[in-house]
Amino acid sequence: MSDKKAPAPQEPRSDANPAAKLWGGRFSEATDAFVERFTASVMFDQRMALEDIQGSLAHAQMLSEVGVLTDDEFRQIEDGLKAIAAEIEAGEFPWSVQLEDVHMNIEARLTQRIGATGKKLHTGRSRNDQVATDIRLWLRNRIDAIGAELTRLQNGLVELAEREADTIMPGFTHLQSAQPVTFGHHLLAWNEMLSRDYERLMDCRKRVNRSPLGAAALAGTSYPINRARTAELLGFDAPTENSLDSVSDRDFAIEFCAFAALLLTHLSRASEELVLWTSSQFDFIDLPDRFCTGSSIMPQKKNPDVPELVRGKTGRVNGHLIALLTLMKSQPLAYNKDNQEDKEPLFDAADTALDCLRAFADMVPALKAKKDNMLAAAAKGFSTATDLADYLVRKGVAFRDAHEIVGNSVAFAIEKNCDLADLSLQELQKFSDVIGEDVFDVLTLEGSVAARDHIGGTAPAQVRAACTRAREAIAAR
Ligand code: ARG
Repeated sequence: MSDKKAPAPQEPRSDANPAAKLWGGRFSEATDAFVERFTASVMFDQRMALEDIQGSLAHAQMLSEVGVLTDDEFRQIEDGLKAIAAEIEAGEFPWSVQLEDVHMNIEARLTQRIGATGKKLHTGRSRNDQVATDIRLWLRNRIDAIGAELTRLQNGLVELAEREADTIMPGFTHLQSAQPVTFGHHLLAWNEMLSRDYERLMDCRKRVNRSPLGAAALAGTSYPINRARTAELLGFDAPTENSLDSVSDRDFAIEFCAFAALLLTHLSRASEELVLWTSSQFDFIDLPDRFCTGSSIMPQKKNPDVPELVRGKTGRVNGHLIALLTLMKSQPLAYNKDNQEDKEPLFDAADTALDCLRAFADMVPALKAKKDNMLAAAAKGFSTATDLADYLVRKGVAFRDAHEIVGNSVAFAIEKNCDLADLSLQELQKFSDVIGEDVFDVLTLEGSVAARDHIGGTAPAQVRAACTRAREAIAAR
């Protein structure tokens, strides 16, 4: 996997000789120096250098197997490409803007190193199928790294959820206290979002993992190539079906950005909650100092920068999705140079997704619940009012009547400036004579959460069972 930053490519020289270009045969004047820079992609596509070499090795091996290259020619190419890979990994490769992109830089270097045999590597392929192959190999690597980081985060979440299965906090609607829930249950809600993200990622991977190699420029090639063989050598599930589509399809990159945008949306929502919960107004959790920074002017400040930045980075990933959709929307078949613009958004979407996952995977196991504050907040805001209504229904009152009775009790408690559980039995009975001493069991927060004892409910027993199922699902990946 080639994900190292190599030194910046050299600036183009103005005395460039047109014949020095790999495609220079039909040209009679040198490329304009600005155009050279404007059309080049090596500044960013060199990130795919090792994938480019991996693709070339498979192509050359296949060419030797079908007799287009001799065994000796293949060995020379193989040795040359491996030496170039070492050069790249050591940061010693002489990248050149004049050679436009990663593909021509490496091909030219091969010929420089092994001589005329290097010129045979490009037989039966084009940069169009080459670049599509490289992006797919690169993205497949990133998908696997992102999948592993998602799993690490989810394992941390499930572990924390299990520890906090009994911890009571307010559940919110409209950001108003609604009903008590357990903190473990809230964390498992995050986990559900991430489980769907994982499914989407793996579904996207299926369409990434097809080999366009052999589609050549657009129409295929007249050499007796074996596309199934290169697909197999590169670990692709199968060759792509249609040569025109193979060189022009970037759906897989769009799908990946859609995955990333939704992942970031989820991480952003969780970040928003962390930012709220760490505020002195909520004070529900402690985020260790190593994930925070201070203010240069206010000595008391400890800011939740990491979740804030994750929330902020969501914007750029959403932007990359729109950039790729817009890039593709009017392109006629087959390859167009527009497609060179696919890389920077895709690379940045993958980098950002991986970094934000890493931040969360590191942070989640370190979150400390301030249980007393959570409990006190849950006790405020009449959060067991629905439980009182359900109690009345169990005693034979129609739900709409129960709703009204509880509404009247809440108004009375507001007047008295106390909670429902603080009202006396006599006071409660003024609103309904079916209310008995057992009402206080349902007015407690523990009773309220324990009563929601069904699949997907917030009862501690259900949270523990959900943790077990989540752990099994993750282990089965
Ligand atoms: N650098 C190009 C890209 O990223 C490679 C393919 C160029 N093909 C071409 N026919 N000019 O898309």
